Amino acid sequence: MTTNSFPADFFERQDMSDDSFFYSTPRKVVHIDENAIGALTEVYRELLPAGGTCLDLMSSWRSHYPPDLQVTRVIGLGMNKEELRDNPQLDKYLVHNLNQNPHLPYESNLFDAVTCAVSVQYLTNPIAVFEEVNRVLKANGVFIVSFSNRCFPNKAVAIWMSTSDEQHIALVGQYFQMSSNWKDLAAQKTNPADGYPLRADPLYVVSARKV
Ligand SMILES: C[S@@+](CC[C@H](N)C(=O)[O-])C[C@H]1O[C@@H](n2cnc3c(N)ncnc32)[C@H](O)[C@@H]1O
Repeated sequence: MTTNSFPADFFERQDMSDDSFFYSTPRKVVHIDENAIGALTEVYRELLPAGGTCLDLMSSWRSHYPPDLQVTRVIGLGMNKEELRDNPQLDKYLVHNLNQNPHLPYESNLFDAVTCAVSVQYLTNPIAVFEEVNRVLKANGVFIVSFSNRCFPNKAVAIWMSTSDEQHIALVGQYFQMSSNWKDLAAQKTNPADGYPLRADPLYVVSARKV
């Protein structure tokens, strides 16, 4: 199945120009607050395999992996070279526009885990990208997709902008279901502020493993 199974206008964006323009200026900022980052790091601590090879998709200058995680190798793929070069958790990086070419330039069955943090809303051909992630994962490898309630509205796809946080969880679940070969599909909703007198961005995680 392809993204064409969705109505085409689901993946239109206010800013339809080439993503390389928008991402040409490095943004060395974090896109969720420190409590949500802490929650994401804990999810990674639970799901990322020690000794594994990971791909951080739509990466920037921070990957939010546990600093003490004993991974063998982390590759980052994103749009801005300067951001990626400044990411201390990456061993290697690549500038690659997934909306121009969803093909991942990696051999099949290479990675133990793939992460995509707070960025899935920018994909205009998500099913093709999820198919590619499945191809490059090893069997039982995990794809961890996280998001909050913030985004660059001009660059997020229309279906994301017109739906709620709960519906985003269902939409990302559909991306998995419409691409092939996944098992153990799971969703987690974390509100780090629950029970505490502090403000925090919510964090949603949808993950699945390659069959
Ligand atoms: C909100 S930032 C998130 C960065 C990082 N994952 C994080 O957690 O801070 C969105 C990221 O998506 C990447 N991105 C946006 N459009 C992309 C595209 N068409 N292809 C590849 N990466 C893209 C950008 O390079 C940017 O780093």
